[in-house]
Amino acid sequence: MATEKVKIGVVGCGVVAAAYYLPYLMTLENAEITAVCDLHPVRTEACVRVFGAREQYSDYYDMLEKSNIDAVFILTAPGTHVPFAMAAIEAGKHLLIQKPMATELGDARKIRDGVRAAGLKAIIEPSSSTPLDPDFALLRSLVKQGVLGDILWFSLGATGPTKYAPGLASNPYGKAAFFDADSGGFLFDLPYAPTNIVGVLGPCKSVFAHAKISVADDFIVPESEFDKYMAQIKDPDDANYWDVVVNLPRTEAVKMEAVDQAYSLYEMADGSHGACHVGRIYHPVLPGSGGGSLSVYGTEGNLLFGAGYKASIISSRKDLLPEVAEDGWFHIPLRGDRSKARWPVPVPGAFNYYHESSRHLVECILEGKEPLVNVDWGLHITEMMYGALRSSETGELYQMTTSLDY
Ligand SMILES: NC(=O)c1ccc[n+]([C@@H]2O[C@H](COP(=O)([O-])OP(=O)(O)OC[C@H]3O[C@@H](n4cnc5c(N)ncnc54)[C@H](O)[C@@H]3O)[C@@H](O)[C@H]2O)c1
Repeated sequence: MATEKVKIGVVGCGVVAAAYYLPYLMTLENAEITAVCDLHPVRTEACVRVFGAREQYSDYYDMLEKSNIDAVFILTAPGTHVPFAMAAIEAGKHLLIQKPMATELGDARKIRDGVRAAGLKAIIEPSSSTPLDPDFALLRSLVKQGVLGDILWFSLGATGPTKYAPGLASNPYGKAAFFDADSGGFLFDLPYAPTNIVGVLGPCKSVFAHAKISVADDFIVPESEFDKYMAQIKDPDDANYWDVVVNLPRTEAVKMEAVDQAYSLYEMADGSHGACHVGRIYHPVLPGSGGGSLSVYGTEGNLLFGAGYKASIISSRKDLLPEVAEDGWFHIPLRGDRSKARWPVPVPGAFNYYHESSRHLVECILEGKEPLVNVDWGLHITEMMYGALRSSETGELYQMTTSLDY
């Protein structure tokens, strides 16, 4: 590479781009927002004005051909991720792909094989609950050393936004991103759940699942409201549409075309098994109740997320614990200033996966390193969700065909 700055082209100037990636990318000394692309000119114009993007495009393939970029951030709706990733690989661009990598296993494999064959760097989101987060790297290492002994069982229940924004059941915008058939629905919206399990327990062996569409009819805020929002943003650190969209009237009828509830029983390569539920709920829960963060129970100890901590371990193998508090537990504290928490932005000072992935990819490109959350990681997590759907359709156990050395 001729320059020390990684030149980035962003496709999809939507909510996630404006709220998380672009404000951070513009602060990186070793990166530059060379180009942005969206079907809505008002959105690319806002990205030029507010985030300092140098060029704007309305056609992605045009951007790939004409702009002098090293890497592409694919921040569009899921249905575009595979063709956009394959075109970027063909053009020799490094990649960040927002979730999901793909909704078909064959497509995820094509991306993995293409990235490998071309010698490119790629990060597959989300990087939360992965070795990129030092707290998770520590937890995984403790579990591997035997702090929990043999794992008996685990459980994880992931719900929709209601937990954070009371009264908000489903996504208030984003027909293509969250409701259309090719979005993959709520299952593929929440790879955070399988990632959390793998981030602690390692690779998965099989899945048996039941998945369905529970609420087929919903209402969202019309797309034109986001155009209006983007037309008036000025401050790069104050461009989070979630701040306003949760309070806008949901007047546009929308069909949920992909599953919004999935109950998966995962068997992990370490022999443990557990239940993972992702589903929308339609009414608030009481603080400390409902849903369910990951809990893991073993012959030597328990690992719990939540209860006022990021994670906590109690273990008879105290020799393995980095420290033990007065209550007998090893606690990893919640990081950051929680008084400034705003849904769904990571708490200031806490692990921010959008930022960490951006920083890490740029570093990997400049230093020729393999990303920690790479295409093999993404392929495995994709198969855990894909396998759940296949199992639900066939009524049979789905045996994973991919694994991870983790
Ligand atoms: N919104 C969030 O909080 C959030 C959080 C994490 C991950 N994500 C993921 O980020 C991605 C985008 O989500 P979002 O919420 O920003 O959605 P969004 O609908 O706000 O943004 C998507 C943008 O892509 C543009 N687009 C669609 N097709 C295009 C095409 N062919 N060429 C160029 N631009 C095109 C749309 O016009 C839109 O501006 C999804 O994969 C989603 O799963 C979103």
